[in-house]
Amino acid sequence: MKQDLKGFFNPKSIAVVGASKDSRKIGHAALKNILISDYDCKLYPINPKESKILGLPCYKTLMDVPSSIDLVLVSVPAHLVPTVMKDCVQKKVKYAIIISSGFSEIGNHALEKEVADIISHSSIRVLGPNTMGFKNASDDLDASFVFGVPRKGNLSLISQSGALGIGMIYLANNEFVGVSKIIGVGNKLDIDDDDLIEFFSNDPDTKVIGLYIEAVKEGRPFMNAIKACDKPVLVVKAGRSGAGARAAASHTGSMAGSDTIYSAAIKQAGGIRCRDIVEMFDMARALAGQPPMKGNRVGIITNGGGLGIMLTDACEENGLTVPKLSAQTAEKIDEIIPDLVKPNNPVDLVADAGFFRYEASTKILLEDPTIDGIIIASVHGGYARPREFTGAILKMIREKRLHETHQKPILGTWVGGKEFEELVFDLKSAGVPIYPSSWRTARAMYSLYVEGQRLKREALQKENKAKGSKKMRI
Ligand code: ACO
Repeated sequence: MKQDLKGFFNPKSIAVVGASKDSRKIGHAALKNILISDYDCKLYPINPKESKILGLPCYKTLMDVPSSIDLVLVSVPAHLVPTVMKDCVQKKVKYAIIISSGFSEIGNHALEKEVADIISHSSIRVLGPNTMGFKNASDDLDASFVFGVPRKGNLSLISQSGALGIGMIYLANNEFVGVSKIIGVGNKLDIDDDDLIEFFSNDPDTKVIGLYIEAVKEGRPFMNAIKACDKPVLVVKAGRSGAGARAAASHTGSMAGSDTIYSAAIKQAGGIRCRDIVEMFDMARALAGQPPMKGNRVGIITNGGGLGIMLTDACEENGLTVPKLSAQTAEKIDEIIPDLVKPNNPVDLVADAGFFRYEASTKILLEDPTIDGIIIASVHGGYARPREFTGAILKMIREKRLHETHQKPILGTWVGGKEFEELVFDLKSAGVPIYPSSWRTARAMYSLYVEGQRLKREALQKENKAKGSKKMRI
């Protein structure tokens, strides 16, 4: 019987095999990352030549450690890994992370198979080989050898590429997207994407799941895991083109598979396929901080007619609609906009729109039952003051939580330069989703629509199930 992953991210004792005094070595960095984590656990460096590393008593082998070990990080050359894994099995270690490269990713399938055979009759769960490990930001444990500390939040990331995984940490920090856990799956010898989706589905610190994949080993369990997951799952699947698929084969030994089949299967399972990492973060920010859309009707508010048209096109291209305003709403909007414009959707507040017009028009659309989500847009035109635009959104979302009261998402779009960007940082750090492009805004709104549909299906299934069990009792 294999271990479940419950204790994987919260081990009570960790050993690093291949720990080194040499600060240039990966085994040194891995040990140091755990040591400097604000995380309470027993830590054992393993190196046959040393008696102490980084002030900690060092053991020659795992078998010499006097107590039990929950997690082992393996950082020795590939040919030594089978011996270490035999020790892990004998020592009844619960989880291992094989950092070492030199397995199927370079065509050495025999060595990977040897490790698979060693663990096959034990309960140990193994991450990798060829992985960076994981960072558990929620509990302050860094079980990886790479730098970078994620900002705490509720996005959990699974990456098949280690380097990209690290890049994602920095990008997430830059974009003010908070992370709960980030994990590199490497060659997926044992712990696979579906295991992790299932784990994160039940993880109270995770609200949104994001994956970077080049290929899945087995399609059905992967799709079933997305289907069963009661959280939004965002998937960046690389290797879309023929040349991209070739690159994936040489990167992680993955067979990228038919791209259209992947797209259809992810959609059918209820996941969202993202074009790239930036789109994944755009959607993650919206899903983590805003209510889902109950329907697909978008109300757009702008001080620039051109931006309003581009947003309308982008929404419509993504399966959303930008309906005409109801007579009641049009009447209310007419009272706050200048005489030179008519009340329409997009609502044109005219270039000099300030705090009042933005706040008043948003409140009107929030109260309109024929609108499911709102985009507030601003162009830094001659008269426009970006501070009034960002201030209005901040007030509505941060102070008054109006999006929650009305259960409607509010997203922002901006067009401008450095001065505007500084103000956008205030919004991002307050968790407000705002984007410098109409397309990116529409895609983020689309993810909130898909999430709304998923929740509806889930509620319907629960209702049907309850009806079914009631019938059975009768
Ligand atoms: N048990 C414990 N320690 C041992 C053993 C053993 N059986 N055998 C050797 N060691 C010690 C070594 O003596 C050495 O310690 P020392 O510095 O005190 O001499 C230490 O273990 C490491 O062994 P080295 O032979 O020095 O190996 P090195 O550290 O150079 O490389 C590594 C090992 C990092 C695993 C390398 O083989 C490798 O695979 N590198 C790539 C890792 C990688 O990139 N993984 C993918 C990550 S994802 C991404 O892209 C970020």
